[in-house]
Amino acid sequence: MYRIDSERVIGERSNLLYGHFMEHFHRQIYDGIYDVKHPLADKDGFRKDVVDAMKKIKVPIIRWPGGCFVSSYHWKKAVGEKRTPFFDKAWRVEDPNSFGTDEFIKMCKAIGCEPYICTNAGTGTAEEMSDWVEYCNLETEGEYAKWRIANGYEEPHKVRYWSIGNENYGGWEIGAKDAKEWGRLVLESAKMMKHVDPTIELSAAAIADVDWNMNLLQNCGTRLDWISLHKYWNLMPEENDFATYEESMAYTNDLDTEIRKVRGLLSALGLEKDIKIAYDEWNLRGWHHPGVHSVKQAVNKEDYILPRDKNDRNQDYTMADAVFTACFLNTLNRNCDIVKMANFAPIVNTRGCIYTWEGGIVLRSTYHVFDLYVNYLGEEILDMWNPESPKQMAVKHKAGHMETVDVLDVLATRKRDENIIAVAAINKSAMEEVSLEMSFTNDDRIGEYRICTVNGPDVNSYNDVNLNQVQLTEGTWQRMDEKDISIPLQPHSVNVIQFKYN
Ligand code: AHR
Repeated sequence: MYRIDSERVIGERSNLLYGHFMEHFHRQIYDGIYDVKHPLADKDGFRKDVVDAMKKIKVPIIRWPGGCFVSSYHWKKAVGEKRTPFFDKAWRVEDPNSFGTDEFIKMCKAIGCEPYICTNAGTGTAEEMSDWVEYCNLETEGEYAKWRIANGYEEPHKVRYWSIGNENYGGWEIGAKDAKEWGRLVLESAKMMKHVDPTIELSAAAIADVDWNMNLLQNCGTRLDWISLHKYWNLMPEENDFATYEESMAYTNDLDTEIRKVRGLLSALGLEKDIKIAYDEWNLRGWHHPGVHSVKQAVNKEDYILPRDKNDRNQDYTMADAVFTACFLNTLNRNCDIVKMANFAPIVNTRGCIYTWEGGIVLRSTYHVFDLYVNYLGEEILDMWNPESPKQMAVKHKAGHMETVDVLDVLATRKRDENIIAVAAINKSAMEEVSLEMSFTNDDRIGEYRICTVNGPDVNSYNDVNLNQVQLTEGTWQRMDEKDISIPLQPHSVNVIQFKYN
């Protein structure tokens, strides 16, 4: 029996927890949201159907332009009249540079979200990063603010969120660094960027590795506001090898490992009150891009460019993605005291929640989970516990061993401005309906409740062009006469149960 203490608020989540990521990769930007010739494009070239879908899930922030792409990207070639197409050495394609900083800012304004710029700490310099801050945030001082004005943007772009580098710790990243080099580069970059605009919030690329983070934090702890983490569980760079539903559930035993490690390190260094975690790339599914993250590069385009189209197969994004995504969002909410931003990677095409095609868009299963969490769950996290041992199930991990996972993942929240307690309740079982037994410990006068559910007919349900197997359905309000309640949860379902109290 789960107990909820509706008066015991254990945290208030930042709305940046439901953020997203867009990279210059495959069809995320070009032929994704930015398609100037598309009949649904607005005056700035953004697809109105994509923008509207992003508004519906209240996208709060978008991180851009990469990702690995950024580590050899030079922003100055993508502003102003003359755009210099460049060969993107990360993804080995020509980027026209027609979508640059000013287009990104316009896109964020169209969506109504914060821009979050990731800078080039691969081949870039502290000066190039701080010039970018000048271009975006200074009123008129200096050549870069004047260049922005000359480009038609009188007012500063006011970009508040910046990160130094992407995954510069990884051998696959252009301009990779060792821990010592990283600490020094971040320190000098942070210094120059904050000399330009001390009000910006700065992050730096990190992993849950003691040496890497010790160097970073000992060198720059006092100059950083965030530390960035990335995680993909079902990695598929070379082989497009999808984990099954059961295998995806096995990954739910490893949702807060990195958060716990980084939290411990920040506490050990006395920084846990000063530095927040930005989980600024995450997704159950890693992206598929053979022949580029390997030492031996593929030679023929059909071996390294064409396979990227396999990221766009909608039948691969099923209830496994929806259930896993909800479990990770619960984890982020439970850690909202230290995790203040997270960016689903990416939002458009590749492994994203919105797929674009000539005739419109497909809202994949994960889109409906964001719709459910953003629009039906509360901002305040309530204390909810189960004194009995939770129901568990054995599932096969993709590595071949068996894992025992909790069948239910529940999170209690409260909508601050409404008398609504909203409980996110996930049933991971592939076949079994499971009842959620709950008891309210306060004398909350609960009048009625309803169950809102994201689900499909089976674990492999998915959405595609002219196919909507996975949907968000709102239940009807039902009277509630007892303090205790048992709510049946469908197999492989993501639910938010809303309780109206007087
Ligand atoms: O697979 C895409 C890559 O995943 C992103 O560019 C990078 O940040 C992460 O390694």
